[in-house]
Amino acid sequence: MADEIGKQLKFYYYKSLTSTQDNAKEFAKKGLSNIVIAADAQTKGRGRFKRKWYSGKGGLWMSILLKPNNAENLQFLTFAAAVAIVKSIKKIAKLNTSIKWPNDVHYKGKKLCGILTEGIFGKDNHTIVGIGINVNQSRFYSEIKHIAISLRMIKHEVFDIKRLMRNIVNEFFILYNDYYNQNKFDKILKIWKRYCDTIGKDVTVTTKIKRLKGNAIGVDKDCSLLLKLKNGKIIKIIEGDVGVRY
Ligand code: BTN
Repeated sequence: MADEIGKQLKFYYYKSLTSTQDNAKEFAKKGLSNIVIAADAQTKGRGRFKRKWYSGKGGLWMSILLKPNNAENLQFLTFAAAVAIVKSIKKIAKLNTSIKWPNDVHYKGKKLCGILTEGIFGKDNHTIVGIGINVNQSRFYSEIKHIAISLRMIKHEVFDIKRLMRNIVNEFFILYNDYYNQNKFDKILKIWKRYCDTIGKDVTVTTKIKRLKGNAIGVDKDCSLLLKLKNGKIIKIIEGDVGVRY
């Protein structure tokens, strides 16, 4: 059975976990859902394409475990989370940030946040929306310091991580409601486009098999990126990393 929207959410906080995604999977195995798991630090945080995700103290590391009635369009949950994050950062840190297709929230080209949406398919289809936000770190390891930034580094302020988390969860569930009522995918996409600054830019796209250059002319109704190559051909990118010069 899928979740009922509005069913009460449960929050679990930990000092340290390997990954909030792993912990969410344990809850999923027990058939549970509508759970938010957060940790002060992760020892094995991971990002897309199994990349290491640096997640020591100071960040917001959380996973939302869901049992949606539609497990085929999970990319919309990534988009819904990105919108919830941009709106919450605006409210709490008074900062305008942007979305880079498909899953990053950045500030002037530096990564503030990444989203990892994972589906667990079986008797019950669970989905885990993992969110990592650089909040109160004052410095980063040399491997990421040229690409990452925290809210504290931008605003010279320390933020209440739990307040930010609660705000994101509230905003996310407003859109999850639209996801649940399937015909509202367009609505999520429309709001997401307002905050995405990839469209219209010359980009480099790296997929598992190739590297392409072109102009990001749009995002299709299934959330894929529409890339116009130099020869005029338009291709759809379903998965990949986008490099943009800001
Ligand atoms: C990415 O940009 O590649 C996605 C990064 C997602 C990181 C978050 S932190 C909370 C959750 N737990 C993890 O191990 N990963 C996600």
